[in-house]
Amino acid sequence: MLGPPIPTDRTSSLELVRITEAAAISAAHWMGHGDNNRADEAAVEAMRRAMDEVAFHGTVVIGEGERDEAPMLYIGEKVGRGEGPEVDIAVDPLEGTNPVAKGRSNALATIAVSEKGGLLHAPDTYMEKLVVGKPAAGKVDLDRPVAENLRIIAKSLSRDVDDLTVVILDRPRHAELIAEVRAAGARIKLIEDGDLMAAISVAVAGTNVHAVMGTGGAPEGVLAAAALKCLGAEILGRLKFRSDEERARAKKMGVVDDGRIYRTNDLASGKDVRFVATGVTDGDLLQGVRFFAGGARTHSVLMDRRLGKLRFIDTTHFEDPANPPVVRL
Ligand code: FBP
Repeated sequence: MLGPPIPTDRTSSLELVRITEAAAISAAHWMGHGDNNRADEAAVEAMRRAMDEVAFHGTVVIGEGERDEAPMLYIGEKVGRGEGPEVDIAVDPLEGTNPVAKGRSNALATIAVSEKGGLLHAPDTYMEKLVVGKPAAGKVDLDRPVAENLRIIAKSLSRDVDDLTVVILDRPRHAELIAEVRAAGARIKLIEDGDLMAAISVAVAGTNVHAVMGTGGAPEGVLAAAALKCLGAEILGRLKFRSDEERARAKKMGVVDDGRIYRTNDLASGKDVRFVATGVTDGDLLQGVRFFAGGARTHSVLMDRRLGKLRFIDTTHFEDPANPPVVRL
């Protein structure tokens, strides 16, 4: 099965993977150094440099912040080699600064790319999220009681509620939610960080997680939507502003605080959505960067909505192409 023909002006997916690979390798050098900022800066700089070699006219729609607060990969920044198609890009050069600083799992470098207008310009605020796999897509609702959503998810998977595992960020703001999930009888996996990887895991059978609930970053919500759209799974999200300043910034970006619920297709409406992530530290789906004499090895996932493909990419990077290191299976 070859799938539909690739449009000739389309940026190669391998070029996109090179962007997250570069960010992941740079960030991984900082694993366990206890320095969130340096790890993040390393990822941002490497991602920015790698993007400049890619054949697209890119606009960052989700990035490191607004122009006045982020020197690189700020919202609205133009990236790319200045040839090729116009695309919108959501970036999270390092999703999981804490996990890298502490040497913990599930940190990744990630981007989502779509044709212009295909990704929501989400403000840098919080988002209340409910993520479910394909079987429960279209059936759950953020406004339903937690126990009811859990019953729907369980039914969709032909299992009991007490056989479900729900991922929730371990934060004081989730005390009530955690109590409700426990009262309904489901199991909980409390995570320190990284609700984006958790969301993707829900869409992949065999990871043994069945839903993500709770409030995390809104940018991560849009990136998750890009991946979930490729996988036919669902995220429901409602913006949760932490201050009037955030509300005002959002309004400037054309997003108002009206309490609306965004579905996967509102967050990632593009027809040509691609999602790419490279593991920085070992995680549920991706291995972290491994360094060795003369090179490094990365593990990435590439999802392509238009072509209907998901690829895991295992790359060995040679420090000196003229003097290749020994490669391993
Ligand atoms: P960073 O990499 O920016 O630190 O984000 C990690 C993360 O855990 C996200 O996965 C999650 O959406 C968000 O932070 C939760 O925010 P908070 O730590 O403020 O609860």
